[in-house]
Amino acid sequence: MSSIATVLVTGGTGQTGRVVTDLLHRRGVDVVVASRHYPQERPAPGVRQVRFDWADAATYDEALRDVDSIYLLPPPLDADPADVVGSFLRRARDAGVGRAVLLNSSAFPLRAAGLHAVRLTVGQMPEWSVLLASGFMQNFLGSHPTAVAVRERHEIVAAADDGRMGWIDAADVAAVAAELLTRVDHDSREHVLTGPQALAYNDVAATIAAEWDLPVRYRPVTPAERTVQLVDAGVPQTFADALVGADVLTASGAEDRVTREVAQLAGRNATSFAEFLRRHPLRPAMTTTPEK
Ligand SMILES: NC(=O)c1ccc[n+]([C@@H]2O[C@H](COP(=O)([O-])OP(=O)(O)OC[C@H]3O[C@@H](n4cnc5c(N)ncnc54)[C@H](OP(=O)(O)O)[C@@H]3O)[C@@H](O)[C@H]2O)c1
Repeated sequence: MSSIATVLVTGGTGQTGRVVTDLLHRRGVDVVVASRHYPQERPAPGVRQVRFDWADAATYDEALRDVDSIYLLPPPLDADPADVVGSFLRRARDAGVGRAVLLNSSAFPLRAAGLHAVRLTVGQMPEWSVLLASGFMQNFLGSHPTAVAVRERHEIVAAADDGRMGWIDAADVAAVAAELLTRVDHDSREHVLTGPQALAYNDVAATIAAEWDLPVRYRPVTPAERTVQLVDAGVPQTFADALVGADVLTASGAEDRVTREVAQLAGRNATSFAEFLRRHPLRPAMTTTPEK
């Protein structure tokens, strides 16, 4: 594609979507912010807010109007989103959209077939990228269950044994997405995105203890125990299976890697976990603010 004038940001009010929107707006790109609810204040010039619901195909066409490129966040907590995302993208392609950048997790195991299948749906677009992101550092902020367990019970519970993962700041994921959504020289492929270090949960707990002065410990549990905990916390069974599958994959060492994609595509070094915690000091009522 020669130039990208307008980008649709699905999940535009979420952790990554807000930062993608801001970065694109600062580059002078028009943005369509799509979500079911959005703030009441008037958006900045060049930013259009639309009501968009994956479950309501009647909301698709208005979101896709005059769009060149799409930041694609699949429906949250849906363990089999390929059909709905595939039909949305068919509509997008027919409307003349040339590019889609899909956010996905690097750690969803192959047996979570639906979560893998969604990666293939973007192949129908003339240009595409798939972001395979490692665990978000933001999981330790705000109302995320991991963050609540850290603050209230001083523990991290997972079925990952001592496997390492390349934890990443969601703002770094967003910066890569903003670049891939708009760059003229586009190479359609998958990108594995990590932070600068692969850390086991014991390392994560020690970093939190040092940076936030909080005596956190890691309590490993079995995959079966973890699945029951997640389902009891309200996570749908199929999605709980996928999340625990990610833990098992991490335990196997498959997530023990660090890539240079953030530096290469966003033009800055990926944020370390210690630096991230310093930027987000512990407060009683913590909110998630991935903006840098
Ligand atoms: N957390 C991690 O460790 C991690 C790691 C790798 C990849 N990921 C991936 O990151 C994605 C989440 O990204 P994020 O953290 O930027 O999002 P987020 O902060 O969880 O926000 C979700 C966004 O989606 C919108 N949304 C929710 N339900 C919707 C629906 N039915 N139709 C349309 N929009 C809907 C929300 O707005 P409304 O509620 O107003 O609609 C919001 O804008 C997930 O796909 C996950 O697999 C997460």
